Amino acid sequence: MKKFLVIGNPIGHSLSPKLQNYWIKKNNLDAIYGKLEVHESDLAELCKNLKDGKLDGLNITVPFKNSIIQHVDVLSGHALRTKSVNTISVDKGVLIGHNTDIDGFEISVKKLNYDLTNKSILILGAGGVVPSIIYGLKRMNASKINLTNRTKEKAIKLKNLFNDLTIIDWGDLPEFDMIINATSIGLKDSDKFNIDFIKAGTNKLFYDVIYEPYPTEFSLAGNISGNIFENGFNMFLIQAQKAFSIWHNVEPKIDNEVLKFLNN
Ligand code: ATR
Repeated sequence: MKKFLVIGNPIGHSLSPKLQNYWIKKNNLDAIYGKLEVHESDLAELCKNLKDGKLDGLNITVPFKNSIIQHVDVLSGHALRTKSVNTISVDKGVLIGHNTDIDGFEISVKKLNYDLTNKSILILGAGGVVPSIIYGLKRMNASKINLTNRTKEKAIKLKNLFNDLTIIDWGDLPEFDMIINATSIGLKDSDKFNIDFIKAGTNKLFYDVIYEPYPTEFSLAGNISGNIFENGFNMFLIQAQKAFSIWHNVEPKIDNEVLKFLNN
């Protein structure tokens, strides 16, 4: 039986085991997918387990998408460009690092029929998923990307990867067509933006990487008439679908049945 894991810290909330095990069963595969809360010092041993055939694949989530890279042998082009790995596969003992968050983000935006060409973007946050979002935005021809983060140094670090990024002060609200919440604000009731999104006007796309809980302060602004709101659920589903395809060579279905199963 093949063994897969999602690793991160925290990991309790992850829907990945439920989803991956559902698809494993649907496709009659002899495999199992679990979750494990780990520390940075565990990464080397986990990767050794992959090399030794004790594990067959990993998903990596916050905060290890970058620090896992030193333990991987080869990076896909997407992972190399973003310095971010969310999926590892093994080929004859060689560990390959992939980034399926990019596809997750890109395909979820394309599903909205939203054309990013010449659009101006504001990203809130500078955490683990942001390099994938910036890379996806550039591939979809966004013309200007502003980014703001409470801790400015982290935003400035991202400029080493993407030098045409414009960093603005936390709390400022420049003109934008699309705004992306890539912070963890919204996960806890007590978290507040202290940004008046209403001032931005309407005809905007609000994209929230968070999908649970709902509604949030950000989703309320995004759901005002004239705006479009999308949360990170489709991104989550699509990155998982792409990881499954890498490991099992089958593209699992995202259909009403799986959506119903996840909502139960
Ligand atoms: P990591 O930074 O470990 O990758 P993450 O969950 O991907 O973790 O990112 C958390 C993001 O939410 C960061 O951009 C964080 O800002 P800091 O870099 O200043 O920590 C942001 N964030 C979390 N709580 C916040 C708050 N109360 N106000 C503003 N930003 C917040």
